[in-house]
Amino acid sequence: MKNIDSGNHTTGKSLYLDDIPLVAGTLFGAAFISPVAHGHIERLDLAEAAQHPGVVRIFTHRDITGENQIGGIIPDEPLLAEHEVDFCGMPIAFVVAETDEAARAAVRKITAEITPLPIITDPRVAQAQGELIVPPRTFQLGDPERAWDQCAYVVEGSADTNGQEHLYIETQCAYAIPEENEGLKIYSSTQSPTASQRAAARVLGVPMHQLEVDVIRLGGGFGGKEDQANAWVALCALAAHHLRKPVKYVLHRLEDMQMTGKRHPYSSDFKLGLDKDLNIIAYESTYYQNAGAAADLSPAIMERTLFHATGTYFIPNVKATAFSCRTHLPPNTAFRGFGGPQAKFVMEAAIAKAAEQLGIDACVIQKQNLNKTGDEFPYGQKAVSESHACWHKAETLYDVEALRQQVQDFNASNTVRKKGLAFMPICFGISFTNTSMNQARALVHVYYDGSVKVSTGAVEMGQGVNTKLLQVAAQTFSINPSRVRLQTTSTNRIANTSPSAASATADLNGKAVQLACQAIVQRLKEVAAQELQVPEAAVELRDEKVLVHGEETALDWKKLVTAAFLKRISLSEHAHYATPEVHFNKATEKGHPFAYHVYGTAITIATIDCIRGTYTVDAVKVVHDFGRSMNPNIDRGQIEGGIVQGIGWMTMEELLYDHTGRLRSNTLSTYKVPDIYSVPKEIAIEALQTDNDNLAIFRSKAVGEPPFMYGIGTYFALRNAIKAFNPDSPIGFNAPMTPEKVLLALYPQPATGVKVTHAQSVSHVAVS
Ligand code: MTE
Ligand code: HPA
Ligand code: MOS
Repeated sequence: MKNIDSGNHTTGKSLYLDDIPLVAGTLFGAAFISPVAHGHIERLDLAEAAQHPGVVRIFTHRDITGENQIGGIIPDEPLLAEHEVDFCGMPIAFVVAETDEAARAAVRKITAEITPLPIITDPRVAQAQGELIVPPRTFQLGDPERAWDQCAYVVEGSADTNGQEHLYIETQCAYAIPEENEGLKIYSSTQSPTASQRAAARVLGVPMHQLEVDVIRLGGGFGGKEDQANAWVALCALAAHHLRKPVKYVLHRLEDMQMTGKRHPYSSDFKLGLDKDLNIIAYESTYYQNAGAAADLSPAIMERTLFHATGTYFIPNVKATAFSCRTHLPPNTAFRGFGGPQAKFVMEAAIAKAAEQLGIDACVIQKQNLNKTGDEFPYGQKAVSESHACWHKAETLYDVEALRQQVQDFNASNTVRKKGLAFMPICFGISFTNTSMNQARALVHVYYDGSVKVSTGAVEMGQGVNTKLLQVAAQTFSINPSRVRLQTTSTNRIANTSPSAASATADLNGKAVQLACQAIVQRLKEVAAQELQVPEAAVELRDEKVLVHGEETALDWKKLVTAAFLKRISLSEHAHYATPEVHFNKATEKGHPFAYHVYGTAITIATIDCIRGTYTVDAVKVVHDFGRSMNPNIDRGQIEGGIVQGIGWMTMEELLYDHTGRLRSNTLSTYKVPDIYSVPKEIAIEALQTDNDNLAIFRSKAVGEPPFMYGIGTYFALRNAIKAFNPDSPIGFNAPMTPEKVLLALYPQPATGVKVTHAQSVSHVAVS
């Protein structure tokens, strides 16, 4: 089935928040933000701005009737700064005016006198000074201390990854409209309507039932709207609550890039030990997560990093420790993979370094150490592994020997262009790591004309979840998909929802839809049995027909629905689903946190231009564990998109904060994302059809985040190409691999007296 949105998307008919017709009298908000990363607010001068024509009112923390707090996991994030600012871009005041232009013009007239305070941008510096968001955590398996003695080879090193801007096409936005009795209806571009509702209720000091949050769809979220849509909801709600007027705020791209947090940059250390047969015996890793100025989702992301410390490999002795470090960057947040990709990069770096020292191809170590069914992860869960199956199928299907030969031949006959090849196996845990979040509800109505309406907590953000939910309803009822319609995601219909995140949206909400439809089907079968005077067990609903012992009858879907209605049988159901089997004990750091894992293997071939440092990705060839895909078109789209986004993170997307904590790469001319010219020339995706009894909806495994990590293969393919040109290149592990870094790695000693400094991870770059 095609994605139900593709027609409207391509003809521009799909509705987003900014397309909602304005209610008469709508006012517009704009935030005045901190120009510095850390300081004490001595004076805030609003007088001139308040005089600006069209300005209705300027809100500060003093106007907050509830709590000035939007921190979801830890209450450490004021909505509006009080006496101190903690990051450049932190909202200080919210101007509301008759027009968008007036609001922004007034913002420019606000002045603040701020005494600067010391700034930390480096997570290791923060950790050394005890600036931690939460206490560190350690996951452990076996006894690495003792295992080092058994190792024939031990390598140590460090590996850094930079952050990543979400760059959802639709910027952050909210629109709050007053209703009677102090109620507010709030449209939002949020992945988590409940989190937004809760944040606004807390700021206003009102019960959650006073607010409705309604989401049509998102022009992309990628994690950036899991938590960070809440501030704009709360600001618009605050203003609409006081003024009893509709208030809308749509961030400009520059504002969005300056004010919102991003993927967490990580700086990490590793130590890897192998025996003489290349079995990995021990692994120790330490992660310094750059959390930014407030917790946001950082503790949960740090936890997922630890869950993915060993990547796709089985290692019997592991010690992985993570620090969530408080710095003066905007609070970093969820981004596709949620800390998993950062961990996998470190693991792959360790293997690459070991391979380098042993003078072998990394894939020898990779393949040898892939996990197997029954192997224990450091967190206690046992693997049900497809890693060997994916690897093996990729090797044979794509004829790796031939690919490797082509790369060798190319490198032998070209002096200024070199190719590199790398494998990237993935293994990603599906479920919210916080067990309580693995629940969902669905509300299904069958109208008496036989048409169906489905509401869930799922937010459509381009990933195709609405299409999948529609398929679940149509298939469970065995009716034509055209009879089913999805409703917007509203906290009035579905309460207490988890965010649409963790790749689990279709699983959780789909299972709830399935349960609701099954309950209605059961009642309909009872009605049919009565109508047809047959035992209920003989009745079956198939293709809109009512069958008895497999034979068609005069009853069909529409007639049966009408009959049920006339018999006063409920045609609606609200169902609840909670993932079985998942649990985790934080005291022991052991349990069974994931419903299942998604596996896959990517082979990447890249070519570098050794004169310019530029590169192209020739091909990414994937074998992916789909389970049994319920929608191969959508799943393929998720894999292609994930790969390209992962390559962007690993290669060209270079976030630069200067030493004052200001974001310098704050436009699309200074922050490069992959475009049609930089995507791989070829992306091949082959399914590993696995039919294990997994907990995925219709056994169609989650696909949202896992493919992102295939992009890590590009970093290592480029690295191998660099080594093919200059085997002595001292290149370390510091993503992204920009063309500038490639060039510096190819020619590490500048011939002249010119001093070249590597653009290091975010925190070390000084821009004057
Ligand atoms: N695909 C599109 N087109 N847009 C998005 O915002 N978000 C990703 C992924 N794929 C995203 C996307 C992220 S971060 C997650 S967690 C999943 O989709 C969420 O949706 P799912 O749970 O339905 O897979
Ligand atoms: N993944 C994604 N988002 C989340 C998670 C998770 O495990 N936990 C809380 N939000
Ligand atoms: Mo995705 S990072 O779990 O929204």
